[in-house]
Amino acid sequence: MKFTVTSERPGNVKTGCVILGVHEHRTLSPAAAEFDSTTDGLLKKVLKDGDMDGSSGQTLMLHHPAGAKCERVLLVGCGNTSDFNLRSYLQTARSGALTVNASGADYAVSYLADLEVPGRTSYQKVRTLVEEAHSVAYTPDALKSKKDKSLRPIRHLVIGVDGADKASARKALADGVAIASGVELARTLGDLPGNICTPSYLADQARELGKSSEKLKVSVMSEAGMEKLGMGSLLSVSRGSRQPAKLITLKYDGGKAGVKPVALVGKGVTFDSGGISIKPGAALDEMKYDMCGAASVLGTLKACVAMKLPINVVGIIPATENLPDGNASKPGDIVTSMSGQTIEVLNTDAEGRLILCDALTYCSKYKPAVVIDIATLTGACVIALGSHAAGLLSNDDELANELLLAGESADDRAWHMPLWDEYQQQLKSNFADMANIGGREAGTITAACFLSRFTEKYHWAHLDIAGVAWKGGDEKGATGRPVSLLTQFLIDRAAR
Ligand code: BES
Ligand code: MN
Ligand code: ZN
Repeated sequence: MKFTVTSERPGNVKTGCVILGVHEHRTLSPAAAEFDSTTDGLLKKVLKDGDMDGSSGQTLMLHHPAGAKCERVLLVGCGNTSDFNLRSYLQTARSGALTVNASGADYAVSYLADLEVPGRTSYQKVRTLVEEAHSVAYTPDALKSKKDKSLRPIRHLVIGVDGADKASARKALADGVAIASGVELARTLGDLPGNICTPSYLADQARELGKSSEKLKVSVMSEAGMEKLGMGSLLSVSRGSRQPAKLITLKYDGGKAGVKPVALVGKGVTFDSGGISIKPGAALDEMKYDMCGAASVLGTLKACVAMKLPINVVGIIPATENLPDGNASKPGDIVTSMSGQTIEVLNTDAEGRLILCDALTYCSKYKPAVVIDIATLTGACVIALGSHAAGLLSNDDELANELLLAGESADDRAWHMPLWDEYQQQLKSNFADMANIGGREAGTITAACFLSRFTEKYHWAHLDIAGVAWKGGDEKGATGRPVSLLTQFLIDRAAR
C-alpha cells in the first residue's frame, strides 16, 4: 500500500474517497465543515435527515457529492467531542480504514488528522492513520489457495494535513509504514503453523532480515554451540523434538559504536504441546503462537532497520519446539543452566522460562544497557489481565515506567505487576537450586521470579504477552503485539 501526504483541501481533491470525521450531535470536524461549504451544505442536510449523528462506530458513505471532485465521501463517527481521546481516535482511524477498504475505492484521501486529540501531535495522528490502514489490510491467507478477496482493497492512502505540518507528516508516514511492516512481520510469523514455522524457519527469517541492512548482523547457533556454552536448560526443552533448537542473534548497530545496546530476548517456542506434562486438547492449535515473543523481536528489528533508528539493539531468540518423546525431559528431571544454577523440572510445560533463562545469561556478553524479554509465558497472565494489557515485571522501576509510557503512547499497553521477594519462596525445590514452577498462586509473578534469578547483573524487564499476542475464536490471528510498544520504547530512547 502506498501512502502520501497532501495539503490540498477536501472539497478540491480528486480521489475515489474523501474521509471526514463527524462528532456526536452532528458536529462536523473542521475539514468536514470545509467540505460542507463546497458542497452547499450536503453533509449537514444528510445528518439532519437522521442518517448519522456522529456516534463512535458509525460510518456513512455518500456517492458523487455535488460540488466536490471526489467520487465518494466517507463520514466516520468520532463520538463525544468532550472526551475524545487517543482511544477514540484509534477507533475512528480503524473504522475509517475498514470501511474504505471494503468499498470500491482503491484511492482515498483521509482528513482524520485534523481531529483534535488532547496531547497528540499531528505527527502522532498521521502515524496512527497509517498504522491502522496498514493493519486492516492484513489477511492471514498466505496458505489459502483461493484468496479471500475484498472488492478492491485500498492501494493508495493520502493523508490531508495543514501545509505547515507537511514535513512532520512525511516523517510520520515513513515511521508509520516502518512500524506497520514490523507489526505485519510479527503477525505473519505468528499465524504460520508449527509445521512450517520451525526453529530453523525462524532462523532463516532472521537471516533474510539480515540482508536488508549493512547494520544488521545475524548469527545462528546450533545445539552443538549451546552444548559448549552449557545451556542445559534450553537444551532440555528441545530434547523431545526432531527439529533442532536454534539460538538466533540479530545485532543492529544503528547507534554510535561503543554505546551499550538494548537487548530484546524473545521466546521462540514454535509449538508448545506441554511436553510430557502434555496439555489438554482444547485450542491446542493456538500453541503455534508460542513464538510470538520471538516474532515481536524480529518485527521490532525490522522497524528499526526501516526507520534507520540511531540506536544499538541486540535481538536474541531461543527457538525450539516442546514435544513429548522417549528422549524428552520428564517431570522431576534436574538440569543445569548456563548460569550454573540447577533446576528441577517439575512441569515440562513450564518450558518458556527454561529456554529464556539460558538466553538471558547468554545476553550478558553484549553488555546491554537494559534487557527486555518478551514471552507468551503464562496462562495465568491471561486470567489476570485478559487480552488488553501485557504483564510487565521488572527489577528496575525506571525501566518499567519507560515501557509503560511507551505502551500508552503506542496504544499497546502493559500493566506493572509486583516482583516482591516474598514470591520467590514458591520456587523452592528440595533437590535443586530451584523448581521451574511455583504452584497455582500468582503464576505470572513466580514465572518472572524464576527469570529474575538469571538477570541480577543488569536492568531487566519482562513482558508476559500470553494474553495479547493473538486473538482466538472467529477472529483468530496474531496481533503483532508488542511490536508497537517496543518500537516506541526504542524511538523514545534514541531521542534521549
Ligand atoms: N505457552 C504457555 C503459556 C500460555 C498458555 C500462553 C495458554 C497462552 C495461553 C507456557 O509455556 C505454559 O504452558 N505455561 C504454563 C505454566 C505452568 C505449567 C506453571 C501455564 O501457564 O499453564
Ligand atoms: Mn508450556
Ligand atoms: Zn509455552
